[in-house]
Amino acid sequence: MTDARDPLKVAKGLAGVSVADTGISKSDADGSLIYRGYPIWEIATNAGFEETAYLVLNGTLPTKGQLESFTEGLRDRAEVEPKVFRIMRDLGRDAHPIDVIRTAVSALGSIDSEKDLKGKQLSLEAKMSVLAANSHRVPRGEDPRTPRKGLRFTDALLQMLTPREATEYERRVFERVMMLYLEHELNASSFTVRVVASTLADPYAAASAGLASLKGPLHGGANEAAMEMLLDLGDPAKAGEFLQAAFNEGRKVMGFGHRVYKRFDPRARLCKEYLREILERRGGDDRLYRLCDSLEAEMWKAKRIPANMDFFAAPIFYSLGIEIPLYTPIFAASRIFGWMAHYSEQIEDNKLIRPDSTYVGRSGLKYVPIEEREP
Ligand code: COA
Repeated sequence: MTDARDPLKVAKGLAGVSVADTGISKSDADGSLIYRGYPIWEIATNAGFEETAYLVLNGTLPTKGQLESFTEGLRDRAEVEPKVFRIMRDLGRDAHPIDVIRTAVSALGSIDSEKDLKGKQLSLEAKMSVLAANSHRVPRGEDPRTPRKGLRFTDALLQMLTPREATEYERRVFERVMMLYLEHELNASSFTVRVVASTLADPYAAASAGLASLKGPLHGGANEAAMEMLLDLGDPAKAGEFLQAAFNEGRKVMGFGHRVYKRFDPRARLCKEYLREILERRGGDDRLYRLCDSLEAEMWKAKRIPANMDFFAAPIFYSLGIEIPLYTPIFAASRIFGWMAHYSEQIEDNKLIRPDSTYVGRSGLKYVPIEEREP
C-alpha cells in the first residue's frame, strides 16, 4: 500500500499508466481495437453508425425496437435554438470552428430544456453534428444548415457539410469513418471528460472541456494539419525530402505516431482502403492516394512510425468535397458519443479524479515589499 505522504510517481504524460477500469473500448499496441468486445473491423464492416453509437453507449447491440427509438430520439433533438446560432454568428468570421462549437455547447448548458441526464446526453449527441456542420459557415454570416428529415445520422451530417451529392459508396465510407472516430478509450479528450464528470459537473460542461482538449494538433486537430501538409507536399516523389526537412527542423509530422499503436493503427488501415476505393470508383486521378502511400512508406523507412487514423480520414473528407476547417468538428460530432459513454461510466462508480504532484519549486521564502525588489 502507498503511503499518502509518499505518492506513487508515474510516467510523464501518464504513458503506460492505467487510471480507470473501462468496459467501453480497448486499443492495443499490436494494432487491435475493440468496442464493447467487438473487433473494430467487424463493426466497421457490418454495423451502421446509430447501431455503433448505441453499442458504445449501452454495452450491447440494439434490438430493432431499441435502434428505432434511439434513432428517433436523436432526430427529435437535432433542432438547435436560433439563440445558439446567434451566439455562434457573433463570434465572427475569424473564430476557430472548435471554439465556435465549444462556445455553443457552453451556451446549450444554460439554454437546453432537457431535465434528466439521459435527455441531456442525447440532446448533446444530436446537436453536436448540427453545431459541427455550422461551425464554419454561421460565424461567416451564412445561414445555418439543418438536417434533412428522414435521413440516416451520418447522411444528414454529410448533406449539411457539403452541397455536393455523394454516391452511395461515398456515404457509406463517411459513415464508417464516423464509426471509427466514435470511441477510443482514454485518449486525451475522453480522459478530460472523465475528469470533469468526476466533479459531478453536467454533461455540457464535460463536453466543452472535451472539445477544448480535442482542438490541439497532437489530438483532434491533427486531421486538418495532416491535410494541409499533404497539399503542401503535392508530389509523391518528394515525400522523402519533405520528411527530411521536417526532421531537420525538429517538426512533428502530422498524422503519424500514436501513444498506443506502435506498428499500425487499425483504423488507419481501414481508412486507407476506403480512400483507395473512393478514388478508384471515381476513376481518373489517384494522386491523393499515391501521396499518402509514399509519405507513409517513407516515414516507416525513416523512423518506423506508423500513420494514424487522422492521416487517412483527412484525404477522405477532402475527396468528399468537405472544407478543411470542418475536419476536427466532424471528429467531435462522432466522438461526443464516446465522451458520453465515458461520462456515464465515470459517474456510475465515481471517485473525484484528483491526482497528487511532486513539488519541485522553492520553499521557505520571505516576503519582500515591492519597493525593495531587485529590478
Ligand atoms: N513526427 C515525428 N516524430 C515523431 C512523431 C511524428 N508525428 N510522433 C512521434 N515521433 C517521435 C518523437 O519525436 C519521439 O522521438 P524521440 O524519442 O527521439 O524524442 C518518439 O517518436 C516518441 O514520440 P512521443 O511524442 O514521445 O510519443 P507519444 O506517445 O508521446 O506521442 C503523439 C504520440 C500522437 C502525440 C505523437 O506521435 C505526435 O505528436 N504525432 C503527431 C500528431 C498526430 O498525428 N496526432 C494524432 C494522434 S491520433
